[in-house]
Amino acid sequence: MSMLRVEDLGVSISTISPLSGVSFDLERGEIIGIVGESGSGKSLTAMSVMGLLPLIGGQVDHGKIEFDGIELTGISENEYRKLRGGRIGLITQNPMTSLDPLKKIGPQVDDVSRLHLDHDKSQAKARTIELLGDLRIPEPASIYHLYPHQMSGGMKQRIVIAMALAADPDLLIADEPTTALDVTVQAQIIRLLGDLVKQRNLSLVLITHDMSVVAQTCDKVMVMYAGTAIERGRVQDIFKSPRHPYTKALIGCIPHGLSKTVRLKGIEGTVPGVAQYPAGCRFHPRCGLAEDICKETVPAFDTAGSRAAACHFALGTAQ
Ligand SMILES: Nc1ncnc2c1ncn2[C@@H]1O[C@H](COP(=O)(O)OP(=O)(O)OP(=O)(O)O)[C@@H](O)[C@H]1O
Ligand SMILES: [Mg+2]
Repeated sequence: MSMLRVEDLGVSISTISPLSGVSFDLERGEIIGIVGESGSGKSLTAMSVMGLLPLIGGQVDHGKIEFDGIELTGISENEYRKLRGGRIGLITQNPMTSLDPLKKIGPQVDDVSRLHLDHDKSQAKARTIELLGDLRIPEPASIYHLYPHQMSGGMKQRIVIAMALAADPDLLIADEPTTALDVTVQAQIIRLLGDLVKQRNLSLVLITHDMSVVAQTCDKVMVMYAGTAIERGRVQDIFKSPRHPYTKALIGCIPHGLSKTVRLKGIEGTVPGVAQYPAGCRFHPRCGLAEDICKETVPAFDTAGSRAAACHFALGTAQ
């Protein structure tokens, strides 16, 4: 059984439909990268899985989200509250949205295992110190007593990861977990996260702008564009032979040499906003291969098999 299976997910926010046609699945022990430019729908996908759409007035319109065999789209907010921070851990972009600036970091991590695992005070503290050590934080017993402002950005993000792990989750969702950090620290944190997921046999949804992070860390990838998925598959297959022109362009954007992390460059134009999603293939205005069919007909997403691309040329329908 998959740890997470999303099938034909669509989201609406009042009268708009910013997300549609998103499908992927993730087994235990696997890492999937969700990649795409700003506005492609990565965060809405994560928020859908976490049951957080009501916060922005949104809802799942159609499709399925199955977590370890449990259908999540119908469950109550109460049930979701138990899963979030419990069996599903969330790592956000900015540590300060997860950390309380007025409280020492150790007790903040303790709170998670006390709430979700019913640990008493001393059990929780021992577990927190062990976790901080696992996160390669030096002298965890003294770091336990620091306040967030006494720590560097990278250290704070390690604490956020410790909080996400504290309830012994099965699934982690990390939405651009390192964007706010220095480039060298970014690479360390991503490596640490990847190692932890593998050691603990967890599953991770890793949202990123950065194809080189996907190449180095992920088993699978889903490429998104303008609120929909356009290609998905195993990382080695997609990097060896990308089918969608957008994926090809993204892979062309990986800098050679040192593992520099850069924002996507090199594809002319920008992702259209929700109100401007074009007819046919949403990528066609930026695509060098586009023909009439691409302007008129939405390319089908071949859902069979382990990889798929939504492009008339990849499917052979345009030839
Ligand atoms: N609360 C909202 N109300 C209306 N539209 C929204 C809302 N949140 C997101 N959208 C729209 O949905 C689309 C996808 O947004 P989303 O935040 O998922 O993109 P993203 O891939 O996470 O981008 P980024 O890389 O900038 O974080 C965008 O066009 C965005 O403007
Ligand atoms: Mg986002």
